[in-house]
Amino acid sequence: MVEEDPVVGSHVGRQRRGGSSGESDGLSARGRVWLVEKMTMQPRSAIVQKSILMTNSGPAPTTAAEWQEYLGTLPQAGDVVDAEELIAANLGGLSNAFCVRCTHGDRWVLKRFLKDASCQNVFNDQTVARVAHAFGAPIPAASVVRVSEEFIERHHASLGRDRLGQPRDSGHYHGSRLLEAYGDVAAVGEELAALNRSRAAKLCILYGWTHAADHQRSVTWHSGLVWSLDHNLFLTKGGELWTPELLRVRAPAGIDSWAYARFRLQPQDLDAAMPSLCAVTPEDVARAIRASPDEWGVTLEFQAAVADFLWRRRDDILQRWRAGSLEEGMYVSKWST
Ligand SMILES: Nc1ncnc2c1ncn2[C@@H]1O[C@H](COP(=O)(O)OP(=O)(O)O)[C@@H](O)[C@H]1O
Ligand SMILES: [Mg+2]
Repeated sequence: MVEEDPVVGSHVGRQRRGGSSGESDGLSARGRVWLVEKMTMQPRSAIVQKSILMTNSGPAPTTAAEWQEYLGTLPQAGDVVDAEELIAANLGGLSNAFCVRCTHGDRWVLKRFLKDASCQNVFNDQTVARVAHAFGAPIPAASVVRVSEEFIERHHASLGRDRLGQPRDSGHYHGSRLLEAYGDVAAVGEELAALNRSRAAKLCILYGWTHAADHQRSVTWHSGLVWSLDHNLFLTKGGELWTPELLRVRAPAGIDSWAYARFRLQPQDLDAAMPSLCAVTPEDVARAIRASPDEWGVTLEFQAAVADFLWRRRDDILQRWRAGSLEEGMYVSKWST
């Protein structure tokens, strides 16, 4: 299910195994919900048989309140790494990101900034990257990276400020595994489209599913492979903070029209990607959401709203696909033109 990948590679493998085995994962009984969907696929008329198997009482959460109860059983911000060495500063964006080497030698691009007194934007980045991995979509691995006061003092002069003029604080940052030497391509020709069919189909689904905003600027290329960077404006409406109410009333999800055209996708490319969406479990979604630290100020109630939102929208897309109507009612981001 998970693609071998030079950058995401082993990290994703670890995350999937940990997320789906249910062994030694510290989950409560309530958290040990298994959702197995069996599928038999035929081109364009996929027949899907769903069977839900549970090892304990209670179905997958169906309301925000149930999600809140479930999320509360999971540990928060488990895999935090420490920034040790500054590699590059002033990488741009509103966050004016910087790159660090961390424990174990991994290199991460870090961002965090306050907007309207909230770090909701980096919660968005962290959550989208992690659900993308559960689904096998090409986003560099995400981590939470702790930056110490000592690190800030040591690199004070180089780090500068973010583009909102705010100085750097110690604390937890969103980390995106460094993708080197990437760039844009002017047009996606036949060859590039063929090479990226599976990756692009997953991005097309992911963008609709997670309500992408400025994704036409997120897409980038590295050695002929497409990647997506920068997802802090997802879930929301182009820069506005979201509220549970906003998420609740949003129209049902469809695939993303911009990505569908840009990557020259065909219906069969989406058919091939759907089993991966089907295989995403409530636990995958919950763990993605719980990865963010408290410090970012997204309360359990708000986290539950996102879980409910993502789970509902996963179903929206699967239902459209089962009905053979994916290409109708595609999601059109106001920011994609
Ligand atoms: N994983 C990554 N690898 C390499 N560069 C990255 C990565 N993530 C972000 N960047 C760089 O950091 C800059 C800021 O990151 P971005 O996610 O766009 O943040 P912002 O929300 O501030 O726009 C981008 O312009 C990009 O050049
Ligand atoms: Mg950006």
